[in-house]
Parts: sequence; structure tokens; C-alpha cells
Amino acid sequence: MAEGKILIIDSDEKNSQIMKIVLANLGYEVSVAFNGKYGVDAFAINRFDIVYLAMNIRDIDPLYIIREFKKRDLDIIIIALISLDAVNFIQEASSQGVYDYIKKPADPQEIYFTAKRAMSQRKYLVNNKLALRSLEERNVALQKQNIMLARRIEESTRNLTQLYEDLRDTYMRTIKALAQAIDARDHYTHSHSENVSRYANIMASQMGLDTHKVEEITDACQLHDLGKIGIHDYVLTKPGKLTPEEFEEVKLHALKGAQILEPLTFLEGVISIVKQHHERYDGKGYPYGLKGEQIDIGARIMAIADTYDAMTSARPYRTQGVTKEETIEEIKDGSGTQFDPKVVEVFLKVVHRF
Ligand SMILES: [Fe+2]
Ligand SMILES: [Fe+2]
Repeated sequence: MAEGKILIIDSDEKNSQIMKIVLANLGYEVSVAFNGKYGVDAFAINRFDIVYLAMNIRDIDPLYIIREFKKRDLDIIIIALISLDAVNFIQEASSQGVYDYIKKPADPQEIYFTAKRAMSQRKYLVNNKLALRSLEERNVALQKQNIMLARRIEESTRNLTQLYEDLRDTYMRTIKALAQAIDARDHYTHSHSENVSRYANIMASQMGLDTHKVEEITDACQLHDLGKIGIHDYVLTKPGKLTPEEFEEVKLHALKGAQILEPLTFLEGVISIVKQHHERYDGKGYPYGLKGEQIDIGARIMAIADTYDAMTSARPYRTQGVTKEETIEEIKDGSGTQFDPKVVEVFLKVVHRF
């Protein structure tokens, strides 16, 4: 295989032939064009590594040829052949991207050295371009891989989130079922937690709390008496007044409920509401005796919902609940002592929807 392909464009036949012999001896494949037009035609259909271009050709402006060739192949190596009458072309030719020049008549040694040097430059440029192209291709492939990876991560995250939400849902359903079972232990309090939850939801929404908080309060209400699982049946369903000891036992249900839920870390907000649902606005509640705004707004809302449902439902010591009007009066009376006055106001606005 030839060492490279060379095109000589020169109307000086003698000079072209000498050059062709020297270059062919070096192992190059050499084509000769005797005017600019033949040169341009040859360049259009062949791929050359080096072009020797006589600057004194007449039919086409050699500077035009240089520009056109460079347009087709930016790395083409052009060597100007300068005759005495075209010496002033040297500067212009080099500004157009001519790599080197030799004077005519060409000296075989000069032909030899320029060709060797020019060919190694050509190989360097071509290899560089190839390396650059493969780098670009690799970049594109990497980018594609990146996009695919990002998509896969996104998908996995979505699946995981879904899985987590499903798991949360299952947990919540299980615990709510447990809370309902505890309500049902005592047929008087059947649906108690559901009712409290509905009332609190109406009040919390009316107060304009954000959706997440409303949801947290609603969930807390459904679970608020979970701790009653640890209270003896006879205390829970006792028809008369409780003894002080029995009352102490009942009071434990707020903390016990929170303890049962504690391992479910995603219920953090719900747990603190459950813990505080028997605190009073005036600080006389249990288990901690928190006061005013120290008590979570969810617990302050729930306190009213809880009292409302407890009073209007039948209790062990009375067969019928008190009337809605009496209950409303009692809650009004508790404003500022047992209950947060702001929440009582909201309650009065929405109680007709209970
Ligand atoms: Fe309670
Ligand atoms: Fe309750």
C-alpha cells in the first residue's frame, strides 16, 4: 500500500515529472495535473494527503484553489511551488494555510524532505481528528448512558416511594382497625374515634391549616384512644363514677397510646397529638399539664371534638347522650379553661355540620 497520496498541480511538465519520480520512489502514489482545472477535478474525486501547487498556474487563481481545497479537507497539506516570477505569492499563500514551499526547479533533496515532513504532519492531523471523533462518540455514548441511568434511578425512586407509601397505608389501616376494635369493645363508644376524627377534620379545615396538618390531626383522632387497650374492661365499661385509682388508670391511656405508636417514626406528629389529647388550655389537664399554645393545635381541636362526641353519645352511666344544645353550652362554658377560645369560636361556626 502506498505511503500516502500526492497531487502535483504544475503546468511545468519537466518539473512535475522530476517530482513524480522522486516522490514515487519514496513509496507515494502520485497524480499530476498540468493545469488548475485538472487539479480541481482530481481533488474532487480523490482523497489526497499532500498537494504540491505551482503558484504560477494561469487558468485558475492558485489562492482560490487553496481556499477550495481547505474547505473540502481542513487538514490537507498544501506545499507551494514558487518560481522566480511568483515569489511575492509566498506571504499570501502562507496566510491562506499553505504548509510549506519549495522553489522551482525543485531540488530532489528538498522534495524528499518536504514530503517526509509534510506527510508526518498530515498523519498527525488525521490521527488527531480520529481521536477527537472517537472521544466525541464516546462522550455521546456516555451521555446516553447517563440519561438512561438517571431514568432508571428515577424509576426506582418512584417504585420505592410507592412501596413506602403502600407500606405506610397498610400500617395505618392495621392500626386504625385496631383502634376501631378498641372502640367496639365497649358498645357505647362504638364509632367514637371515627366521629371525633370527622369533627376535628371539619374544624381544622375551617381554621385553614395546611393539608398535611389536617391529615395528621384526622389520623391522630382515629388513633387517640388506642391506649385504652391497656385499661381493664371493668374500668372502661363501669356504669358508675370511677374511684380515684380507676381514674388514674384511665389517665394512662394517652401515654400508652403514644407508646404503642412510637416505633412508627413516620407518625411523629400524630403521636404528639395523641399524647396531648387530654391536656387542658388552662394547664390542668394530663399527662403533662401543658398550657395554652404549648399544646399542639391538633390536640386543642381534638379536645373539643372528643368532648362533643363523648357527651352526645350514650355512656355507660347514662342511656342517652345529652342534647346537642346542652353540649354546645358546656363547651362554651369551657372556653378559656378546658378549651382554646379560638377553637371554640370555630367549633360554634361549624357544629351545625357535625
Ligand atoms: Fe382519650
Ligand atoms: Fe376519646
